[in-house]
Amino acid sequence: MRYFLDSGAALLARLPAETAHELTLSLLAAAGPLLPRPPDDPPCLKVAALGLDFPNPVGLAAGFDKNALVPDAMARLGFGFVECGTVTPRPQAGNPKPRLFRLRQDRAVINRMGFNNGGMERAARHLERCKGGGLVGINIGANKDSADRIADYVTAFCRLAPLADYVTVNISSPNTPGLRGLQNKDELNRLIGAVLEARGETKKPVLVKIAPDLDEAALDQIAAAALLHRLDGLIVSNTTIARPPLRSAHFRETGGLSGAPLRDPSTAILRGMRQRVGAALTLVGVGGIASGADAYAKIRAGATLVQLYTALVYEGPGLVRRIKAELAQCLTRDGYDTVAEAVGADA
Ligand SMILES: Cc1cc2nc3c(=O)[nH]c(=O)nc-3n(C[C@H](O)[C@H](O)[C@H](O)COP(=O)(O)O)c2cc1C
Repeated sequence: MRYFLDSGAALLARLPAETAHELTLSLLAAAGPLLPRPPDDPPCLKVAALGLDFPNPVGLAAGFDKNALVPDAMARLGFGFVECGTVTPRPQAGNPKPRLFRLRQDRAVINRMGFNNGGMERAARHLERCKGGGLVGINIGANKDSADRIADYVTAFCRLAPLADYVTVNISSPNTPGLRGLQNKDELNRLIGAVLEARGETKKPVLVKIAPDLDEAALDQIAAAALLHRLDGLIVSNTTIARPPLRSAHFRETGGLSGAPLRDPSTAILRGMRQRVGAALTLVGVGGIASGADAYAKIRAGATLVQLYTALVYEGPGLVRRIKAELAQCLTRDGYDTVAEAVGADA
């Protein structure tokens, strides 16, 4: 089955990026229930965070499964948790195609999808069908034409939070004009306050996902707001609007850049956030992870959990198993019995 999946990935690489992605989702939806359950992860990879027990710290980042079609299948590929979304209250088509570009020579992707998704009712139907294969987070956003963005987050939270293990408030997509303005102090305080009020007594973990393109003052303000409101965690980071030197033909495309060129900048922001919030919040490190060593570097910079997306495009589903094995080796080599012991070692 794994051989089939890996050779399938090689074929998909020849198709236009979004077509390949849609086909992948259809294949996973059909074949998911046939996939064998992954072997148990070694004890050193188990993580307790956000009041949840993660079998391993390697998660699927948001954007791969926007409509919560295949969380069970992704758990069977070995992910320790799967973040679905971004889901907005109402369905929306997103930006005109083409809007997803592979930058193969750079092991990177540029996307300007623009929160294409089937809306919260569709995601809710899919989440209700989940067989409890693994931990599932739901990533929520605002509709592009919304008159009240904060109300959108509250609406999506109320509908979807009961169906997920945690909720991510995504205010860092570069593809919805003005969305990143929610990272500014006053807006952020209002947004977090409104979502936490909607959470009430349920104690569902709430995380905020931030951009890698923030300056020191903005990071200070986000850290202060997160600590003030006792947010559960921060996800660092979304895609970047920066353009480091790139070799691939599509480097001029507008949108968010992910993959290898994002790895070190996002780790630097993560480390800076750990220095600001210490162990008070759970940090999730995302951006350019393609190996166990990359995941380990995020953990040492302060991440308790990590996520990836872009490397899957190039490496296929066998990547998850490889990253976990390499991460376990890194921990053993450095004398750590658990992931928790290594968190923040380099911060
Ligand atoms: C095609 C694509 C779509 C994405 N869509 C979303 C999204 O809807 N919501 C979100 O929070 N992040 C989204 N992301 C960002 C990823 O979750 C992740 O933060 C980013 O890609 C960095 O990780 P990576 O380098 O491992 O891909 C998307 C990324 C890609 C490549």
